[in-house]
Amino acid sequence: MPVVIVDGQEIEIGADERLNCIEAARRAGAEIPHYCWHPGLSVVASCRMCLIETGQRDAASGKITMMPKLVPGCQTPVKDGTVIVTKSDLVTSSRARVEEALLIDHPIDCPICDKAGECLLQDYHFQHGQAERRADLHPFTSRKRDVGPTVTLFVDRCIMCTRCVRFTREVAGTAELMVTSRGAKEEIDVFPGFPLDNKLAGNVVDLCPVGALGDKDFLYQQRVWFLKREANVCGGCSAGCSIYTEHNQDTVYRLKPRENPHVNTWWICDEGRYGWHHLHDPARLVEAGRRRPAERGRPTEYETVEWADLVVRLRDDLTRAGRLAVAVSPMLTVEEAWMLCAVARSIDPQAYLAVGHLPTADSDETFPGGFTIRAEKCPNRRGVEAVVALFDPAVHGWSDLLAHVGGGNADAAWITAGYPTSGRGPWIDTDTAATFANLSCLVVQDMFDSPLSQLASWRLPAAGFAERAGTWVNVAHRAQAFEQAIRPPAGVWPEGRLFWNMLGRRGLYDPSAVRRQLAESASLAALAGEIPAHGVDLRIHQLA
Ligand code: FES
Repeated sequence: MPVVIVDGQEIEIGADERLNCIEAARRAGAEIPHYCWHPGLSVVASCRMCLIETGQRDAASGKITMMPKLVPGCQTPVKDGTVIVTKSDLVTSSRARVEEALLIDHPIDCPICDKAGECLLQDYHFQHGQAERRADLHPFTSRKRDVGPTVTLFVDRCIMCTRCVRFTREVAGTAELMVTSRGAKEEIDVFPGFPLDNKLAGNVVDLCPVGALGDKDFLYQQRVWFLKREANVCGGCSAGCSIYTEHNQDTVYRLKPRENPHVNTWWICDEGRYGWHHLHDPARLVEAGRRRPAERGRPTEYETVEWADLVVRLRDDLTRAGRLAVAVSPMLTVEEAWMLCAVARSIDPQAYLAVGHLPTADSDETFPGGFTIRAEKCPNRRGVEAVVALFDPAVHGWSDLLAHVGGGNADAAWITAGYPTSGRGPWIDTDTAATFANLSCLVVQDMFDSPLSQLASWRLPAAGFAERAGTWVNVAHRAQAFEQAIRPPAGVWPEGRLFWNMLGRRGLYDPSAVRRQLAESASLAALAGEIPAHGVDLRIHQLA
């Protein structure tokens, strides 16, 4: 194995690994500060913050020969015998000079800058800068430029690392951003008439190491030190991008990509990034209600039912109705789907189980950098299919369920939905909803009103992606477990909590207990048997 020496510490790297000095030093626990380098972009070595001392150890004699000058760690690959020095006086003084040079031109407007608290210029100044500023202070400036519908450029804060420019060229493939002018006058800008308006545009805000690029959706909404973050999975499409949900007091403020080399690398799309506003839409269903008997000339009314009563009354109503059909929504987690099927089969041992409606849009869209936005706009079709297959290997779909109910084969239906349709119109049209009009009992569990919920005997609220915990399996059959980030609005029980109670489980709903049961029970053998047929690998990847 090749050996690299970092500050006197020997570390082994893989024989085929291609690492630069920043990555190799990180393996040894030494952080080399850097601005312009990003593992997902080409290397330009322009900021000089990563300058270090390097050398080579002779394999035979063990003698070390150092390079006569500092080299950029981002641009210097390591090999067997590479020596890296990250803490010498020369390196330390070089970093202080770079910080000083950057701050000559940078407005010290941290109190009003959105990036304060997560700004690399701020952090590196405290870690590597010098206490005194020797140059004259420039007058405070705050030039803003509207570079696109979602992003504002604070021109004077830019340190010209060009990460954003390279992103639009190499990953998004749209090249809206460019560098204008030269030398001390160079600035980031867009081409006239071509704003920064692509489906991955929000990533440039994450890439910006300082506060030059601001996300209009988040600007001045919250200081970052008030935010808490939970490792979540995006529910916007079947890609299942790893994200952080950043929130405060049960309100989500922004979503950020979470690095995951198996799924989304470092990026997320804007549809996912801004796809959380429905969680706080005042139009959400937040009360569990049971339809009152119809009275002539009076509009349909629902009596509010307490969840504790509902657990019993819902089961009674469904049992009384007879033959049950259930749509298992691809928005549910694996654990919720499994509990729903178990509840349904405990009410009607012959219950017809089907995967719920699969929302889709156009076709998959792949960008030059390899990132793909999926056409299937639900996060857990594979997981739900695998669960439904445990109970019925035929794995029926939504159209099968419509035919089943439309053919008079069911007396009751339980439709789980939970689609984030806020502002986009209902997911089901009136004609399709009419298929369920003549059932004795119709349970609809959804986030928003729809032609189907208006027919419901039981109208139950559903939870949003950040309000549930469990496991989703993405289009590439990768299972990701995640925790609940925020509590749902008052009056909403996440689906898992209802199913847990209807199964007679005691205590708080615990998705990991369901996972354990799935893993330990005999049903796992059946599950394993179905994996090849459905191509689903349900190994749980518990990510940090
Ligand atoms: Fe190496 Fe900028 S990170 S020169």
